[in-house]
Amino acid sequence: MKPLSVMLSMLAIGITSSAVMAEGVNLPNASLPNVSPANSELVNRGAYIARAADCMACHGEDYTGGTAIETPMGEIYSTNITPSKRYGIGDYTETDLKNALQKGRAPSHMLYPAMPYPSYSGMKEEDISALFTYLQTVPAVDEAPKHKTNLPFPFNIRSLMLGWNFLNVPSTEKRDGLNETQKRGEYLVNNLEHCGTCHTPRNSTMGFDKKMYLSGAQLGHWHAPNITPDESSGIGSWSEQDIITYLRTGELDQRAYAGGPMGEAVAHSTRYLKNEDLSAIASYLKAVPAIQTDDKVSAVDVSRLPTPVNESITHDLLAQKDYLAQAKTEVSNGSNSPESLYLAACGSCHGVDGYGQPDARYAPIVGLSSIRREKPDALVNMILHGVEGATDTSPIMPGFSEELNSDQIAGIANYVRVNFGGLTKSEVSAADVDRIANTGVDKPFLIKYAGLLAIIGILVAIAVIIFIIRAILRSKRRR
Ligand code: HEC
Ligand code: HEC
Ligand code: HEC
Repeated sequence: MKPLSVMLSMLAIGITSSAVMAEGVNLPNASLPNVSPANSELVNRGAYIARAADCMACHGEDYTGGTAIETPMGEIYSTNITPSKRYGIGDYTETDLKNALQKGRAPSHMLYPAMPYPSYSGMKEEDISALFTYLQTVPAVDEAPKHKTNLPFPFNIRSLMLGWNFLNVPSTEKRDGLNETQKRGEYLVNNLEHCGTCHTPRNSTMGFDKKMYLSGAQLGHWHAPNITPDESSGIGSWSEQDIITYLRTGELDQRAYAGGPMGEAVAHSTRYLKNEDLSAIASYLKAVPAIQTDDKVSAVDVSRLPTPVNESITHDLLAQKDYLAQAKTEVSNGSNSPESLYLAACGSCHGVDGYGQPDARYAPIVGLSSIRREKPDALVNMILHGVEGATDTSPIMPGFSEELNSDQIAGIANYVRVNFGGLTKSEVSAADVDRIANTGVDKPFLIKYAGLLAIIGILVAIAVIIFIIRAILRSKRRR
């Protein structure tokens, strides 16, 4: 256990970010930046498409790029797509943009699918036109992104993507029997918002596993849950209004929270969508096939959730201070009681009763789906690695892999799952925590062995050539 000072500094982080957050991102009713009545209707429509297709999550709110996208092959950096002639896409024609979005082809090279062109391949011509016109109006930034992509052999051969594209583009198919609203929802989910890039698991070539469409996938330390309408492992119990509220505000009271990558999708994109578009997404998500996975989530049992303790100590960080300080003293004196551990490590942000610090926008964690899953992996990963805020001004959660040992993390996880998740029991063990901490990001077969396969391929090619030369020589000798 690290000394008290660490915990106190956390309390300090809490207080400063609370000041920032008080006037910070106000999630509901976000108005669309970059849209102004002074712009032409086409430009404003393009700005909306950029939001709905979430270009900013990767290229940045100013489109200057440089964000790392982690892939099993290595980090791929987004590029500057401002109209800068030297560093951006100032020389692009509309056809160039169309090729980049739909085919993954930049004028001089093939793109990696970290740029979600397998999804954008279905983007409508008129939407690309509007986007093109809009992108020409954003301020040009004459600066190269800080980092450049440099993948190891054989992935540095960009033309290899031609073969990959043949197998994996387009990444989704149109579904039959949808009404007009659901068709709009399908277009938003598949082609603009590209929800499947996170929520659909990958096959051995890193393309979408179409049979498991939207049934959940691991993203490094994060788990994107099953969002098909399955009752036991998906979001079958959510109403369409629940889905709309979640995508608009990033949370659903005592049910779910959009952290990590989902927080980014909400912050940069879904909270700006028109109500009719959020409704269309919700209606479509109810119409996709339900897929049951082993990532079960128990229903919220409201009767088992804690009642908020005395308002003054729940909602006032300073009033809680003495209470938390007592737990910290106990922990530094060697107490391993899960309650004291929770209060010492988590209480300063999430409150003594899990209802959080609403003023500071620290997430209330009571009832959240992430603490109600049968597999504790998502929760344990969050405790180990922390949570980066979705925007520059969002509060962050520190990781505890250094401060707490596996036993203590297991104790806290069980405490949180039973007391705030309403589970009847939770048996996370230190061994579970070790397993989760040591699970690397599993690379699909082809990627893991691609270097080896490429070398084997070259050796086989050489062997075939030698064989042919020999055969020719032999037949000559015979003659
Ligand atoms: C999930 C992250 C992600 C999203 C979302 C995304 N991009 Fe990209 N984009 C990338 C990455 C990474 C690259 C660089 C790929 C490479 O190096 O092969 C890229 C490259 C590009 C390029 C090629 C630039 C060049 O090098 O000539 C264009 C154009 C582009 N993106 C436009 C867009 C637009 C427009 C949107 C929104 C409709 C968008 N991107 C959304 C990650 C993303
Ligand atoms: C410094 C403040 C801070 C501390 C300490 C802290 N958290 Fe958090 N926690 C946050 C913030 C901020 C978020 C929301 C992050 C975001 O917006 O993505 C969060 C989110 C969460 C979530 C919701 C995750 C989701 O996306 O579903 C859980 C569960 C959680 N914390 C548990 C814990 C536990 C358990 C501890 C103690 C081991 C802890 N937190 C300590 C600030 C903190
Ligand atoms: C960049 C990756 C990413 C993208 C893109 C993304 N999601 Fe998510 N989504 C996640 C992750 C990770 C979580 C888990 C968040 C958490 O627990 O804090 C999540 C959670 C959710 C949940 C809550 C599920 C539950 O059981 O709590 C819903 C609903 C959801 N996403 C819908 C969508 C929809 C609809 C889209 C497209 C508009 C989308 N997501 C796009 C990564 C993503």
